[in-house]
Amino acid sequence: MNKQPSFEEFEVGFDIPAKPGMDESEIQTPSLVLDLDALERNIKKMGDYAKAHGMRHRVHGKMHKSVDVAKMQVELGGACGVCCQKVSEAEVFARGGIKDVMVSNQVTEPAKIDRLARMPKLGARTLCCVDDPANVADLSAAAQKHGTQIECLVEIDCGAGRCGVTSTQDVVNIAKMIDAAEGLKFAGIQAYQGAMQHLDSYAERESKTHVAIDMVKDAIAGLKANGLECDIVGGGGTGSYYFESNSGVFNELQCGSYAFMDADYGRILDKDGKRIDEGEWENALFILTTVMSHAKADKAIVDAGLKAQSVDSGLPTIYGRDDVEYVKCSDEHGVVMDTKAVLKVNDKLKLVPGHCDPTCNVHDWYVGVRGGKVETVWPVSARGKAY
Ligand SMILES: Cc1ncc(COP(=O)(O)O)c(C=O)c1O
Repeated sequence: MNKQPSFEEFEVGFDIPAKPGMDESEIQTPSLVLDLDALERNIKKMGDYAKAHGMRHRVHGKMHKSVDVAKMQVELGGACGVCCQKVSEAEVFARGGIKDVMVSNQVTEPAKIDRLARMPKLGARTLCCVDDPANVADLSAAAQKHGTQIECLVEIDCGAGRCGVTSTQDVVNIAKMIDAAEGLKFAGIQAYQGAMQHLDSYAERESKTHVAIDMVKDAIAGLKANGLECDIVGGGGTGSYYFESNSGVFNELQCGSYAFMDADYGRILDKDGKRIDEGEWENALFILTTVMSHAKADKAIVDAGLKAQSVDSGLPTIYGRDDVEYVKCSDEHGVVMDTKAVLKVNDKLKLVPGHCDPTCNVHDWYVGVRGGKVETVWPVSARGKAY
């Protein structure tokens, strides 16, 4: 599934936007382009950070949905495994050879529980989150049916207002049920504060993470009092990992966006008031787009519209240019204001997507570029895996 197509397949017109050895300017657009040098630097930097702080890093694979990127994060960044949000994503990573896969989410539908329970047969340690006592029995029945083990973390809602329990008593009750259930193993606590990762202010992110840290401390004490130890205390994203790392209670980070960066994340501020895409992380992901019309004097129309990106977190920015601005999009068109008429038909622009995760999900391929040449073409292995 993750096999690189042969050159013969490329030559007979396999529907791939580029092939290794090509010049960057020959890539068909709109395409996702990865700056491999920047990607490697981001991955190495976060890996070194986690190691220096005694943390494991379970990278969030939902961001890139790529087995190749996950393998780079394991090999170069020392990641211990991946997180996914969906069973279908998790299966792709397990089949692709990732040995430690957590669904950092609830798995409740019978068919999905059954698939999750089969996953250890693919050779992967399999974990998921739980916030409902009835779910424990269902997961246990499926694991027993398949003769496998599912490791379960109790999820705490520490501010995002999504899944997760909100009291230590509930954490302890569910953890005890998991511990007693055949086919399951109590693995620890999941506590990701998703609602504050994108807040501009470092101080605001810090105070919100401290609410989470206090809830986790209390839960760990409650579990200990009941004879239960946490192998994993997981959470943390690109906007907060330094708080969890220095908390003394978390031992696994789950950062995703740091590897690629995007326009919305890039504008949040570090502790010195500097944007995080101006020093902390590099833009490694771009949508390469081509000007296909300049029939209006002040507007260039590019081929990356809504179907090439998600604009839920804002429009893309144009990398390295302040003379032109991407101002609007419809299905297959993007409108770039070009009041000085500096662009012409077939010029290419590199867009920094507003939100990397859902943008990657609408493409089939990553074109990896180094020094102006295409070095590799990787499938977006779990593209569209939303179930
Ligand atoms: C459970 C969980 N952990 C970690 C992350 C990674 O966050 P980020 O992309 O902000 O690093 C996410 C992203 O939404 C998430 O849902």
